[in-house]
Amino acid sequence: MNYSIAIDGPAGAGKSTIAKLIARRIGFIYVDTGAMYRAIALYFLRKGIDGHDVAAVAAECPNIHVALSYDEEGKQQVILNDENVTPYIRAEEVGRMASVTAAIPEVRAALLELQRDMARTSDVLMDGRDIGTHVLPDASLKIYLTASSAVRARRRYDELRMKGEDCSLEQIEKDIIERDRQDMSREIAPLKQAEDAILVDSSHMTIDEVADAVIAEFEKIK
Ligand code: DC
Repeated sequence: MNYSIAIDGPAGAGKSTIAKLIARRIGFIYVDTGAMYRAIALYFLRKGIDGHDVAAVAAECPNIHVALSYDEEGKQQVILNDENVTPYIRAEEVGRMASVTAAIPEVRAALLELQRDMARTSDVLMDGRDIGTHVLPDASLKIYLTASSAVRARRRYDELRMKGEDCSLEQIEKDIIERDRQDMSREIAPLKQAEDAILVDSSHMTIDEVADAVIAEFEKIK
């Protein structure tokens, strides 16, 4: 039997940083499901398709194939129709589009089996919005990782400034709140804490403190 750890939570809570760190420490495969939704969003952006046009998005889904691979350092690479799109999916507009198109059932259906298959064949640490509630309802451990919108905006702001990008803290917080609203209010697989998930609020915790807390929970059930 494989172990699976589900980490869900809102945008900017630090899921991927923490998940990567934990996966390395315990030797699990890290599956970033947000990257898969971002790859699909990139497809629609490139095609100039309006993400709110449900019929157009649904009609394109059979033409979209997303796969994951891992490079020699173990870093996840996202493949969109045979092209490695990993360098292009982190832009803000891709994240915004991902949140819009992720609400469309055909988009979610295109990724669900791929995500479940990965958990069937390996010990995985999977992060996203609906992993504990929908993708892996029987995950060995479920964490709901959150932080206040002010703290999440500040972290994102610092990250962008480090990259030399010009941005406004106020606008980033507005975007984060809008993304939360969109991800939490959609009809299909909305972001919410699973009943059996452990709540971790990272607002006043360091990355290492969060990783240690999650690993301590994993040790208890292992
Ligand atoms: O975690 P992220 O910012 O890379 O995710 C981008 C968007 O993809 C997010 O706003 C909502 C969607 N998403 C989702 O609906 N379900 C997931 N399991 C992961 C991401």
